Amino acid sequence: MKKIIKMSNKNIALESIKKIYSWRFIEYKTKFITETKPSLDEHVLFLKKQLSEKKSIWFGLFEETIKNKISKLIGCACLYNYDKTISSYELGRLMIDPLSTSRGNGTKLLFFLIEYAKKELKAKRIIIHVRKDNLIAIKLYTKLGFTIKDNDIIYKLELEI
Ligand SMILES: CC(C)(COP(=O)(O)OP(=O)(O)OC[C@H]1O[C@@H](n2cnc3c(N)ncnc32)[C@H](O)[C@@H]1OP(=O)(O)O)[C@@H](O)C(=O)NCCC(=O)NCCS
Repeated sequence: MKKIIKMSNKNIALESIKKIYSWRFIEYKTKFITETKPSLDEHVLFLKKQLSEKKSIWFGLFEETIKNKISKLIGCACLYNYDKTISSYELGRLMIDPLSTSRGNGTKLLFFLIEYAKKELKAKRIIIHVRKDNLIAIKLYTKLGFTIKDNDIIYKLELEI
């Protein structure tokens, strides 16, 4: 069984923070725009600060195994940088565990965040910045209705919601 949970300092395990670190700065480091790598301790502090602020809203996709009923983090994404002038959020840090990709998990998580931004946050637009060479991510975004606005080295995609 899979579920998507809004993450906070109260419900995030250190193991999940370590996973996010590993995806972001090891497995998927070339997929992101910024390539600087913080230490694990710096990342823990950064994430805990993000989770304590209202500016960034992090979500985790968890999978519960029938055998031991332990929920393990298999993906994450975040809504941040609210711009009240255009009622928009940026969506970023979308990552699915390398062992769980190509099974609809990215679609599930992205769809959930779009609905959350629309219904809970009353946003009108979602903006994503993605590297031009990240073809799988671009395919996913355009599949869910995002359109390319700036066609530079970094694509800017938008979705009116
Ligand atoms: C991008 C990412 C989140 C997609 O997650 P996912 O769970 O594999 O996505 P899904 O299984 O829902 O597939 C979504 C779409 O991506 C494309 N896709 C997925 N895996 C693919 C593959 N191996 N080859 C080609 N296209 C693929 C397909 O178009 C697919 O839609 P479809 O199956 O309806 O055709 C995941 O690959 C990832 O974590 N990548 C590294 C981090 C990253 O690039 N994040 C985005 C930064 S902007």
